[in-house]
Formats: sequence, C-alpha cells, structure tokens
Amino acid sequence: MQLPPFFYQVFESLPRQGPGCAGATKKVFSLLPPLPDDAKILDVGCGSGTQTRDLATLTTGTITAVDNHQPFLDMLNARAGKAGLQGRIRTVNASMDALPFEPGQFDLIWSEGAIFIVGFEAGLRAWKPLLKQGGYMVVSDADWFEPNPPAELVKWWESEGYLPVSEEEMKERVKRTGLRLVATYRLPDAGWWDNYHVPMLARIAELRKTHGSDPGNAALLDAFEHEAEMFRKYKRYYGYTFFVMQKV
Ligand SMILES: C[S@@+](CC[C@H](N)C(=O)[O-])C[C@H]1O[C@@H](n2cnc3c(N)ncnc32)[C@H](O)[C@@H]1O
Repeated sequence: MQLPPFFYQVFESLPRQGPGCAGATKKVFSLLPPLPDDAKILDVGCGSGTQTRDLATLTTGTITAVDNHQPFLDMLNARAGKAGLQGRIRTVNASMDALPFEPGQFDLIWSEGAIFIVGFEAGLRAWKPLLKQGGYMVVSDADWFEPNPPAELVKWWESEGYLPVSEEEMKERVKRTGLRLVATYRLPDAGWWDNYHVPMLARIAELRKTHGSDPGNAALLDAFEHEAEMFRKYKRYYGYTFFVMQKV
C-alpha cells in the first residue's frame, strides 16, 4: 500500500521513519552469535536506511534493503555511497508481503518498526522460509509494557487500527511460528523521543506554515502530533520490543 504523498513529505526528511536508535541496533546485534564473514542479511521495511547503515558497520556481510517507497531507497543508496558501503548494501523496491527472494538464503532477517504493516505473526511466518536453517530473525514491534493501559491510550491505538498485546502474548505468537525465541530487548525512550518524535514535531511545525491551510494536510499533522502526545503521556505503558529469534 502506498500512502498519500503528503504523508511521505512528513517522513522523507526525518532521520528515521520509525522509533529506533543506533545503540539499540548495536545492543540487539550483540545478542546474536557471530555471523559468517559473507553473511547475507535482509532488512525489511528499511525506510531511508539508518539501521541498514548501522548494521553494515556491525558486519562484513551484504545487506539487501527492501522498501516499497523508491525515494527512501534512493536516499539510502546515496548515503551508502557517501559512506563507501555501496558494495555491501543493495536496495530492492518490493512489498514485504511478497518478497521476491528464493527460500533458504539469508543468515539474518532484520526489520525495525515495520512488521506491524503485515502483522507480527503473519510477517514472521511469511519471512521465515527465506532464512537458512539456523538463521536468525530480529524484528521490533509495539507491545504493552504494563497491564491495564488507560482507556484514552487504548482508544488511540484502536484508531490506528492496531491494538498491542503483552510481551508474553508476543512470545506465544513467536512460538506458534516455530521460531525459537533467543532474547528480547526493549527500545529505550530516546529511540522514540530524541530520534523520532522530536524531529517529527519540528517537521510538523515547518509543514504547518507551508501546507497547513489544506484541511486534509492539517488533519494528518494533527494526527502525528497526537501520536507524540500519547507517547509523552503514556510511555510507561507501551513501547517497542525487539524479538531475536532463530530458525531451528
Ligand atoms: C515505520 S517505517 C520504519 C522504517 C525504518 N525501518 C526505521 O526504523 O526507520 C516503515 C517502512 O515500511 C515501508 N513500507 C510500508 N509498507 C510497505 C510494504 N508493503 N512493503 C515494504 N515496505 C513497506 C515504509 O515505506 C517505511 O519505510
């Protein structure tokens, strides 16, 4: 699914298109055993590829970075070129629900803040066949950090078309796919606030001046601002958890 062009105008100039941080990528990567020198890695829903480049500095392998929005991939290619990583990062414009790769070829599948688009369990099931036997999958997705979240927060998540579940329920979902859960790790607040909401709020303020007179645009900017407000108010109740899994 492609979103309205104004949606992309908000996100194209942001450092990342979802919550995350280099420290978390590095920490979670350290939970994996050493990968082969020529590891084949797939980054699904890579956006403009901040975590793709972080991964490239942590490995000697090659990364295939997939997104369905070509301008994000163009940005990633340009940044990879500047960092001298163009030989190790390849971009592919494809949909994550129909990934155009032969089964059994990746040592690692990585996806930060993107599996919600196809659904956590459905995504794990669909991507698992692409892993080599013994290969690893790492995804981050939203879950409840505390039981009994406030009604206002539940209502907002429902309006997003997606209701988180507890980490225990996420672990059950992993188990149902047959993947072995190796570890979990919660994204620190800075990954949401400093790297995502703060730049997004600055972008919203700019776009209100230039594009805010259009009611559709204004409504979208209001919705993003509300998302940041929900996090500011209720961050103890939810967040992103990384799930580190192995195909056994
Ligand atoms: C929330 S962003 C996360 C981006 C990046 N991983 C990050 O953490 O900054 C989700 C990404 O998924 C991409 N996307 C949305 N639907 C997709 C689909 N069906 N197939 C592939 N990518 C998709 C969007 O273009 C966007 O770049």
